[in-house]
Amino acid sequence: MRAAIDTERLLGSLDMLAQIGAIDGGGCCRLAYSDEDATGRRWLASRMRMLDMEVRVDAVGNVIGRFAGRDDRLPAVMLGSHIDTVRTGGRYDGNLGVLAGLEVVAALRDSGLRPLRAIEVGAFANEEGARFAPDMMGSLVYIGGLSAEDALAAVDVDGVRAGDAAQASGCLGDAATPGPVPHAFLELHIEQGPILDREGFDLGVVEAVQGICWQRYRFGGVSNHAGTTPMSMRQDAGYVAMRVGALVRELPARYPGQMVATVGVLRLQPELVNVVPRRAEMTIDLRNVDREALLAARDDLDAEIRAIAAAEGVTVERESMAFFDPFDFDPGIVERVAHHCAATGRRVRRMVSGAGHDAQILGRVAKAAMVFVPSVGGLSHNVREHTAAEHLGLGAQVICDVALELAEEPA
Ligand code: GLV
Ligand code: MN
Ligand code: MN
Repeated sequence: MRAAIDTERLLGSLDMLAQIGAIDGGGCCRLAYSDEDATGRRWLASRMRMLDMEVRVDAVGNVIGRFAGRDDRLPAVMLGSHIDTVRTGGRYDGNLGVLAGLEVVAALRDSGLRPLRAIEVGAFANEEGARFAPDMMGSLVYIGGLSAEDALAAVDVDGVRAGDAAQASGCLGDAATPGPVPHAFLELHIEQGPILDREGFDLGVVEAVQGICWQRYRFGGVSNHAGTTPMSMRQDAGYVAMRVGALVRELPARYPGQMVATVGVLRLQPELVNVVPRRAEMTIDLRNVDREALLAARDDLDAEIRAIAAAEGVTVERESMAFFDPFDFDPGIVERVAHHCAATGRRVRRMVSGAGHDAQILGRVAKAAMVFVPSVGGLSHNVREHTAAEHLGLGAQVICDVALELAEEPA
């Protein structure tokens, strides 16, 4: 069974979704459970209904559309990703996987085809984790790796509970979690890094995702006058945080496995020109394909942070925000995806994902796979995120071909 992707229609959908929460520079801000996220989900649900899909929304706000198959007792083939974004998001991260899924259904309808298994398209809630930790929250709840209750107890930097935000914006539904395990899960995503673009590849077959460790540190010192307090008498929480920031930047060189390390949030209090900071808060994102190296880096860093803080008379609080082991996709389905990619005659590379994805969570319970398309200049989590139209269409066609093959598999 084969259906033809209409790249123009896919571009049109990406464009429409990008209007919701649009920000300067062509990007989007649809932080999880915000009003913009809710508007995006309503738009998505209406598109699903227009494609004869039955829509369900679960207790954590995952939106799942179902295009019935010839035998609806069989587990569905699920396609999808997320439509929440970081505050400075582009228009492709996540959105592409969801809208390519809808394009597969639209292509099926064009050709009057009805696969054996249902095709489901999922938009998983709060994949980004930029507002509420952990990331990949909706997919974790979908597979039963986290309860909806615990997920919704997460609190953002302004003290707002995820559950309250989700309720107020109308993001929650009544479909049960965990959700039904699909026959297979496929996610098309932009690479979000420079490899495919720089090396001239058209498609990426994702074999694994690196491990992710997110932590928040809070340092407590004493506010004092910047002019009168001798350097030897300071308990400067800001100084500790800034030394830790430099340490984080230098950390990866000490470990095997192509480690990366980032301080994404750094806040000082009272944040005034002439006051020694009393409090500092920072997040540390560590990633590595090598689990042992990731854990060693986390623990070594913690010991060094405590030594720096102790020498300054500053207190330390550590909070674990998220931890995901490195994940290897099922080799059988990876080979099948690689085969379909090769059949396009385009340049295909196998690769490891640097970003976290819903597919690695669905992959814990079902066979799952991902296809990457190039990110121009390797930019992502940036309004200038861009992928060429031909690559969007190419990736969607591969996902469509693999999905329809899987959807014909008998029980
Ligand atoms: C999700 O975008 C991540 O931070 O990997
Ligand atoms: Mn994403
Ligand atoms: Mn992202």
